[in-house]
Amino acid sequence: MKEHSKISRKKFIRRISAILLLPLVWLVNVTIERKIESEQKKNKILLPENIAEGITILDQIILIKTGSSIKVFSSRCTHLGCVINKIDNNEIVCPCHGSRFNEQGYPVNGPAAKRLEELAIQTDSKSGEKFVYA
Ligand code: FES
Repeated sequence: MKEHSKISRKKFIRRISAILLLPLVWLVNVTIERKIESEQKKNKILLPENIAEGITILDQIILIKTGSSIKVFSSRCTHLGCVINKIDNNEIVCPCHGSRFNEQGYPVNGPAAKRLEELAIQTDSKSGEKFVYA
């Protein structure tokens, strides 16, 4: 006589849950690895000690100082990614298709429709230097 092994409903659900969770764990792991890789591909850019009032365009970043407030934006245009290199009438101007951005990084004239990417200012815990990843 053949004997069937029986597993309890509880055990069955646990096993199925474990099998179904594996792809989710894998997906979360891959997502985290990609985020870390993309952070590592960015350049660490030190901010100058003295930042002039108003808009300053550096190589890969745009600094905007208004009183004691400092904002840093990527100089990549949100339209098609050209490097922004011009200030006109207190607006940031993309040389490729003429998008214009205000001092908060918002487009005031297209074709760009999205705000410039604001970069988080970080402080080196040892040197105290301010920097961003761009
Ligand atoms: Fe800047 Fe098109 S890439 S306006």
